[in-house]
Amino acid sequence: MRRPYLNSRLAEFTSTIFAEMSALAAGTGAINLGQGFPDTDGPEAVREAAVRAIRDGRGNQYPPGPGVPELRQAIADHQRRFYGLEFDPDTEVLVTAGATEAIAAAMLALLEPGDEVIALEPYYDSYAACIALAGARRVPVTLRPHAGAYHLDPDELRAAITPRTRLLLLNTPHNPTGTVLTRAELAAVAELAVEHDLLVVTDEVYEHLVFDGAHLPPASFPGMRERTVGISSAGKTFSLTGWKVGWVTAPPELLAAVRSAKQYLTFVSAGPFQYAVAEALALPDAYYEGQREELRAKRDLLSAGLADAGFAVYRPAGTYFVTTDIRPLGEKDGLAFCRALPTRCGVVAVPTAVFYDDQEAGAPFVRFAFCKKDEVLREAAARLRAPA
Ligand SMILES: Cc1ncc(COP(=O)(O)O)c(C=O)c1O
Repeated sequence: MRRPYLNSRLAEFTSTIFAEMSALAAGTGAINLGQGFPDTDGPEAVREAAVRAIRDGRGNQYPPGPGVPELRQAIADHQRRFYGLEFDPDTEVLVTAGATEAIAAAMLALLEPGDEVIALEPYYDSYAACIALAGARRVPVTLRPHAGAYHLDPDELRAAITPRTRLLLLNTPHNPTGTVLTRAELAAVAELAVEHDLLVVTDEVYEHLVFDGAHLPPASFPGMRERTVGISSAGKTFSLTGWKVGWVTAPPELLAAVRSAKQYLTFVSAGPFQYAVAEALALPDAYYEGQREELRAKRDLLSAGLADAGFAVYRPAGTYFVTTDIRPLGEKDGLAFCRALPTRCGVVAVPTAVFYDDQEAGAPFVRFAFCKKDEVLREAAARLRAPA
C-alpha cells in the first residue's frame, strides 16, 4: 500500500469544522454564526495607520525578527497599563503571525516527543494539532457546565498531572465556552504549576472581551511570571482578524526558546501592520470600554434570542461566543443538528463536540458567534425561533 502523503502526526487533522460549516453557509445562503470573525472592521484610525506605514515605507521590507521596536514597546506598555506586569521589550516580547503562530512556536519549542500537555476541554482546535506536530500527547481536562456556566475543577486538573506532564495550555477568556477563569480557579492552577514545576502557556486573545468579572493574566499569580508564556493578538481586540499580528510575553529564556521556533516558521510577518497595531494598543480606555460594551449588548441580544428559540443558554462572561445546550429542543447530537440547521432555518453554528476528546461530554452543545451586526443577530434569532 502506498504511504499516505500526510504524516501520521497530522492524520487526524485533515479538515476543520469551520471549513465544512462555512461551505454549508455559502451553499445555502445561511447566516454564518459559525466562525468567530466580526462583520465590521476595526477603528478607522488604526486602518489609516497601516496605510500610512505602507506609504511611508515602514515595514514593507523584512522587519526585525522579534518584531518592530515600536510594537514591542507598545506591548510592554499594554501589559503594564492593564495588568501592572513589567516586560522588557527587548528580551521578553516577541511579535508573531497572530496568536496561531505563537501557539505553534511555543509547542514546537517547548515540547519533546512523549511530553504530556494538559489543555482545557473543549479546546481551540489548533492546540491539538500543534501538540501533535510537536510529537507530544494532549491530556484534556474538561470544563463542566453547571449553574449556567462552565467551571474548572482543580481536583480534575490535579488528577491529570503525571510525571510526563510538561506544560499546561490555558485559555482564558475561553473559546468556545465563554468562561473567564476566576481568581480562585487560577490560584489553584498556579499552585499546581508551581508544585509540579510545569510550564504554562496562556492564550489570552479575548483578554479585552470580558463582560462579567475581569481578565486576570495567569502570569500575575505567585510563582507564575517565571514559568508562563503569555500569548495574545490584535485580531479580536481591534476587530482586525485578517492582519494576523500576535505576540508572546515571557521571561528571557522562555522567550528565546519560542523565538527559536518562530524564526523558522514565518521568520517575520505583517511589517506595516505591526506599526499600526502599536498605535492601536495605545488607544485610550474609551476604545476598549466601547468595544466591550458593544459586544456585551450583542451577547445579550443573541443570548435572549437563543433562549426564546428554546435553547438552554450558557451566557458567556467573555469572548464573542455563546454556547447552548440543544437538549431542551428535543435534540442531543450537536453535529447532526448543525449539519441540518442551515437548510432547516438558514443559520450556521458550530457543534462544540469537535473541540472535545470526550465526545459524549460535548455532544449536546452548539456554539454561536455574536460578533456580527445587530440586524444579522436579530434575523438569525428570528429564523431560529420560526418553526422548522
Ligand atoms: C482561543 C483562540 N486562540 C487563538 C486564536 C487565533 O488568533 P489569531 O487570529 O491571532 O491567530 C483564536 C481565533 O479564533 C482563538 O479563538
